[in-house]
Amino acid sequence: MAMGKEEKMKKLEEKIRTCRKCPLGSLRTNAVPGSGSYDAQVMFIGEAPGYWEDQKGLPFVGRAGKLLDELLSEIGLSREEVYITNIVKCRPPENRDPTEEEIKACAPYLDRQIDIIRPRVIVPLGRHSMGYILEKFGFKAEPISKIHGKTFEAHTLFGKIIIMPMYHPAAALYRPPLKEELRADFRRLKGLLEKK
Ligand code: SF4
Ligand code: URA
Repeated sequence: MAMGKEEKMKKLEEKIRTCRKCPLGSLRTNAVPGSGSYDAQVMFIGEAPGYWEDQKGLPFVGRAGKLLDELLSEIGLSREEVYITNIVKCRPPENRDPTEEEIKACAPYLDRQIDIIRPRVIVPLGRHSMGYILEKFGFKAEPISKIHGKTFEAHTLFGKIIIMPMYHPAAALYRPPLKEELRADFRRLKGLLEKK
């Protein structure tokens, strides 16, 4: 019998937790496959785990995660209803940016997660995630300040996906005006989800 979503995701998560395809695998405490609903309509994609994510094996559990929870609850969503993951599943030392090689080694896991979950909307958080997702679906990356909150319609084998890049919540912690921009983008996301 064909494997269901749940079984496919569990297998994939197990593979990620024991992966050694790039050097980050031997530096991590815990890999962070992702969390949330396998039937999510929205997938949020950050960059890479930080200190607390590595400690707990869960995405967005530090300060940026608290802000993400707040923004979600403002539009009536919970973490359990969406799916949250990162481009790279293991923490880069000192929270440096992941390298091209690390992204290349790890991104197939994200590609597979997208194929299994089949979300209606993908929200890349921050510049790096935006760059990867837009290029993957055949769009050109642009400055995040210019395209956050805009929508890109991608056509996949399983149907249409809407991509709506947003600022990374961590950026809004350092630059408070960005928090209002993020809020406005979350309201746009809510509008999108209300349309059938
Ligand atoms: Fe594997 Fe990705 Fe972790 Fe590298 S970062 S070891 S590719 S799971
Ligand atoms: N920042 C990210 O990009 N991802 C996390 O999981 C946490 C912080």
